[in-house]
Parts: sequence; C-alpha cells; structure tokens
Amino acid sequence: MNGIALAQSVATAAYIVAALLFILALGGLSKQESARRGITYGVAGMTIALVATFALVIANGALVPDDTTAFFGVGLLLAAVLVGGGIGLWRARVVEMTGMPELIALLHSFVGLAAVLVGWNGHLYAEGVAPELAGIHHAEVFIGVFIGAVTFTGSIVAFLKLSGRMSSAPLVLPGKNALNIGALALFVALTVWYVLTPTLGLLIAVTVLALALGWHLVASIGGGDMPVVVSMLNSYSGWAAAAAGFLLNNDLLIVTGALVGSSGAYLSYIMCQAMNRSFLSVIAGGFGIEAPRADTEDHGVHREIDAAGVAELLRTARSVVITPGYGMAVAQAQYPVADLTQRLRDRGVAVRFGIHPVAGRLPGHMNVLLAEARVPYDIVFEMDEVNDDFAGTDVVLVIGANDTVNPAATDDPSSPIAGMPVLHVWDATDVVVFKRSMASGYAGVANPLFWRENTQMLFGDAKQRVEDILRAL
Ligand code: TAP
Repeated sequence: MNGIALAQSVATAAYIVAALLFILALGGLSKQESARRGITYGVAGMTIALVATFALVIANGALVPDDTTAFFGVGLLLAAVLVGGGIGLWRARVVEMTGMPELIALLHSFVGLAAVLVGWNGHLYAEGVAPELAGIHHAEVFIGVFIGAVTFTGSIVAFLKLSGRMSSAPLVLPGKNALNIGALALFVALTVWYVLTPTLGLLIAVTVLALALGWHLVASIGGGDMPVVVSMLNSYSGWAAAAAGFLLNNDLLIVTGALVGSSGAYLSYIMCQAMNRSFLSVIAGGFGIEAPRADTEDHGVHREIDAAGVAELLRTARSVVITPGYGMAVAQAQYPVADLTQRLRDRGVAVRFGIHPVAGRLPGHMNVLLAEARVPYDIVFEMDEVNDDFAGTDVVLVIGANDTVNPAATDDPSSPIAGMPVLHVWDATDVVVFKRSMASGYAGVANPLFWRENTQMLFGDAKQRVEDILRAL
C-alpha cells in the first residue's frame, strides 16, 4: 500500500469513529440528564474528523513531492478553522438563551451556502470525472445546489423572523401553492436538461430558482409554525451537507448529513403531531394555511389587577398552576418565580408548573430556565399532564405566555392556530396574565383569554411584578 492510500485508509477509519460518536451524541441529546454527555461525544467526533482531514491534506502534500497545492490547501484549511472556530466560540459565548433559535437558523444558512459553493465548484472543476459517471456527477451538482440554495435563503428568512427583523405573519402571494409546485416542476425539468447538457446558464437558473423558492417557502409560514420550520431547515441543512459529501466523495459528510437530515425530519414530524399541524402543509410552505385576520372584534373591557391584589389571591389559594412562556425568558423572571414557588409551598399551597411543548422559542426552553432556577423537577408537568386539572385549580399565573394559552385554538375554527393544543388555563377559578401590554403573541393572533370574566391582567415586566408580589406576601 502506498503512503497516500494508507493515509486515506486511516482517515476513513477515523471518519467511521467520528460518525459513531455523532450517533452517540444524538442519542445523548434525547434526554436532559444525558445531554451533557451527548455534547461531549459530538465535540470528540468533530475533533477526530478535523484532525483526520488535516492529516489527510498534509499527507497528500508530503507524499507528492512537487505538489504545492496541498500545502496551500493546509494553509486555507487552517485559516478557515481559525476564523470559523473563533466566530463560533464568540457567538456561542455571548448568545442569550432567547436568541438561540435565530443563531441556529443562521448557522443552517451557512451549511446551505457551503453546499451551493461545493456544487458550483463541482461544475467548474469536473475534469477528473469518469465519463460513465458524468451523468451522476451532474445530477449531484444540480441537486446539491438546489437543496443548498433553498436552505440558505429559507434559513435567512427564519433568522429574520425569529429575531423580529421581519414580521412573523405569513406572506400570502396570490397562487402561492401553485408557485411552489411550479418551482418544483421546473426544478425537475431543469435537472433532466442539465444532466444531458451541463451548461453554466442552467446552473445559474437553478440557483436563482432555489434561492427564490427557499425565501418564499419560509416567508409563507406563520409565526405559530416557526418551531417546525426551524427543525425542518435543520433537516434541509443535513441533506445539503449529504449532497456536498457525495460531490466531495467524503463518507463522513454523507453519514453526518443523513443523520442530521433524518433526525431533523423526524423532529419536525413529532412537533407537527404535538401541535396538531399537518406535516406536509408545513414543509410545503404553509400549504392551505390562511393568513391571520386583523383583529376587528370588540372584546369588551379587560380587568386589571396589581401585585398586592395577586398576593391577596395567592394568600387564600390552595392550588396554583404557573404556565410560563417566552416573556418569562425575556424578563429572566425564573429566579423570583422559583422564590415565589418556594414561599407558597412553605405555606402549604400546592404549586405546579404546566409546560406547553412550544412555549418560548426553542424545545425545552422553559424546562431549562426552571432547572436553572432550581425549581424541583417533580412539580414541572407537561401540558397533557395538567390540562384536565385546571378546573380544580384556584389560581393560574400565566407568566409571559400568550399563544400557548389562547382559547381561540380550541373555540375558533377560523383562527390561524385552530386545532393547536393549548393549556386550558381559563378553566381555573382565577387567571392572572403577566405581560406588558395587550399585544398579541408570536403567532400574531389576538388572545380572547385577556377579556374572559375570570382573567385579570397584571401589566409590567414579569420579573419586577413577581418581585412586587413577593414583597407584598
Ligand atoms: P408568545 O406567544 O411568544 O408571547 C410571549 C408574551 O410575552 C408576549 O405576548 C409579550 O407580551 C410577553 N412578554 C415579552 N416580554 C415580557 C416581559 N419582559 N415581561 C412580561 N411579559 C413579556 O409566548 P408563548 O406562549 O411562550 O408561545 C411561544 C410562541 O413562539 C408560539 O407561537 C410558538 O409557536 C412560537 N415559537 C416557539 C418555538 C419553540 S421551539 N418553542 C420556536 C419558534 C417560535 P407584551 O409584549 O405585551 O409584554
């Protein structure tokens, strides 16, 4: 075996170990208790993959005496790892928990862009491809560029929507479903054409088509479905990486891409089931989903309460359920909420938490915050575990939640969030909603809960208001 073949065999073995570590990482991340271990596996796998890649490039350079391009390659690789790693470390250190989904969306866009660049590279430097494999190579280039470009612009729109730089309301162009289906049909036709005659013009056409489609697909999806979109883009980014792996003949990229692609698709499916949404309609860019109507209804007058009033309510309560949402994360109110919980429990009040599967902005967001503030696990329940108990509850404290406690989801079939399971907080004797205004939630849908007879609004920053209640108690 010559030196280069040996280096390649060692690198392949290292890639298999890295792939196994990535599988263990995914397994570990499926449970809160093993998540830390899962991340360690992931970091180890990525380190092995990087070292093997470096070693392969260096071996190529050292073993081919006159090949200066390999050393140039090592320089480029080093610069890319230092710049990319530096930016990654910096962003991961400064990102707020509430900014995590938008950071993830942005990272997906990089994967998409990388797949587009790899595809273009495959078109421009196709000399070494064996004639009998040329058709497959062209198809790989075209499909890789398409998936990458859809992921790129789709993820950018998701980033803009999640960070509030773009409205979360769905874009409804006339004939939007026909536009999406037409774009897909055009892609299939262009692929056949490109495989037969691979011209630069066709590659430019598919890139522009896919960029526009990615933008349109995600812009057409309403705020309530964004959690599914983020995991769907995660899946797309995996397939984009796998497509790049085929082009680069890199087994690790193919395996890792397929892992990310399939696990992301499965997560999207589970989320759709949990939220009673149609998986196909979400991945097809909100197929059949209507835009939210402007809230023209006269809801009457809402009632307000102050912190002393809430303290009074709590003093006589025997059972309290707290349903936190995104506003608790923004206000960082989990610490005083944990203190309030402890204070009430010390007085013999039964306090529990009801957690909606998409409360906040990332899966498990509320659980992480409550764990951070050391709220005991055994009083934190999932939505399905508490939903039937609200009728026997004295006081519900809705802390910075909105869409996840919206009765329109169950009462109004024409609502954009109709059918989405929600916490039935209105069944309790008294409901106190902590928020700063009467504004709607992330999905942009008015919440009739605020005008219900047993609801009182406690306006202001959630953290300050909970601290006021603690003082009043
Ligand atoms: P939202 O519907 O997002 O509402 C949060 C509420 O918190 C807002 O109405 C806001 O009202 C209030 N708020 C903000 N800052 C506050 C502060 N400092 N103090 C007090 N209140 C504050 O919350 P939710 O019920 O948690 O629902 C989550 C939504 O996000 C769903 O639509 C879900 O689909 C979507 N989403 C979820 C995820 C995941 S995976 N969890 C990812 C992306 C999107 P004011 O402005 O009036 O204060």
